[in-house]
Amino acid sequence: MEFVDNREDIFPDLRVNIGSLEIANPVMTASGTFGYAREFENLMNLHRLGAVIVKGISLHPRPGNPPPRIVETACGMLNAIGLQNVGVDRFISEKMDYLAGLNIPVIVNILGDSLAEYREITERLVGVPGVAGIEVNISCPNVKKGGVAFGTDPSMAAAVTKAVKESADVPVMVKLSPNVSDITLVARAVEDGGADSISLINTLIGMAIDLKTRRPVLANVIGGLSGPAIKPVALRMVYQVASSVSIPVIGIGGIETTEDALEFLLAGASAIQIGTANFINPRVSEEIVEGISKYVVDEKLPSIRSIIGGLSINDG
Ligand SMILES: Cc1cc2nc3c(=O)[nH]c(=O)nc-3n(C[C@H](O)[C@H](O)[C@H](O)COP(=O)(O)O)c2cc1C
Repeated sequence: MEFVDNREDIFPDLRVNIGSLEIANPVMTASGTFGYAREFENLMNLHRLGAVIVKGISLHPRPGNPPPRIVETACGMLNAIGLQNVGVDRFISEKMDYLAGLNIPVIVNILGDSLAEYREITERLVGVPGVAGIEVNISCPNVKKGGVAFGTDPSMAAAVTKAVKESADVPVMVKLSPNVSDITLVARAVEDGGADSISLINTLIGMAIDLKTRRPVLANVIGGLSGPAIKPVALRMVYQVASSVSIPVIGIGGIETTEDALEFLLAGASAIQIGTANFINPRVSEEIVEGISKYVVDEKLPSIRSIIGGLSINDG
C-alpha cells in the first residue's frame, strides 16, 4: 500500500506556526534556563520539545557578574548572571553540532552592546546548519546611548530588529523587556522593524536586601525577577501585545503547569516558553507537552491552534 503522509490526520494535533516556522507543539525552553540543551539530555526527552532556545550569545565571550548572582524570592527568583556565555564563535564550533543533531528547531538567543554587534553576530549565524531562528534579547544596555536598554525605547528596539532582520537568513523573534510603561508601543515598533514574531516577557527588574549585613543580596545590587511571581504581569502583557500586533506572539513568564501554558494561549500566544520552572523540575517542559496533548484529546479539539486567542471578554 502506498504511504500517504496526510498531515491533516495528525492526532492530537499540537502543531503551531510561528510565522514561517512550523513547530510540532507550542512548548519551548526559555533562554538562560536550559543551558545549551545537552545539560538536560539525561533528565528528559529533548525530542519532545517544540523548540529549544539557548542561552544568550554575544559577539565575544562574557564572564558574567561576580557572585552572589541568584537569590530565591517569594514565588520566584532574582538573577544577575550578567549574560555569561561562550561567545558566538565557540557557540558555533562547540555547541551547534550537538544541537543540530537533536532534530528539533533550535532558536539562538542573541544580545549585543550596539547595533553593529547585533548585526555581526547575526551574520556569523548565517548558513550554520541547525539554526532555525534567532531570538533577539533587547533588554541590554546600548553603550552608545549611555546604557539605556534597547528594549525600553521603541525607536532603538525597531533599529535593532531591522539590523538583525537585514542580516538574518532565518525567522527573527524579538524578545521584549517588561520594564516599560506601555509595552504595546515597543511591540508595534519591532513589528514595523520587520520582526517575524515577538516573545515576552524577559525578567522584571528587582532587588533584595540582607538585613544582617544591610547589603544588597546580589553583588550586582539589582537583578531580574522571574518565576510564578511574574505570571499575572506576563499574561497581561501578552494579552495586550497579542491584541496590538498581527505577528505571532510567544508567551513567557512564570509558566509551571499545563494550565499556566493554556492561559497564555487563550490570551493570544501562539506558543510558550518555560524558564525558571526548569530549575525546580527539569522534566517540566515534557510534562507540559503531555498535559497539552491530553487537553486537546479530552476537550475533543481539532487542534491546539483552535484555542489561541480564544479568550472571551464579553458575556455571551
Ligand atoms: C538564570 C536566568 C538566566 C537568563 N538568561 C537569559 C538570557 O541569556 N537571555 C534572555 O533573553 N533571557 C534570559 N532569561 C530570561 C528568561 O528567558 C525568561 O524570559 C524569564 O526568566 C521569565 O520566564 P520564567 O518566569 O518562566 O523564568 C534568564 C532567566 C534566568 C532565570
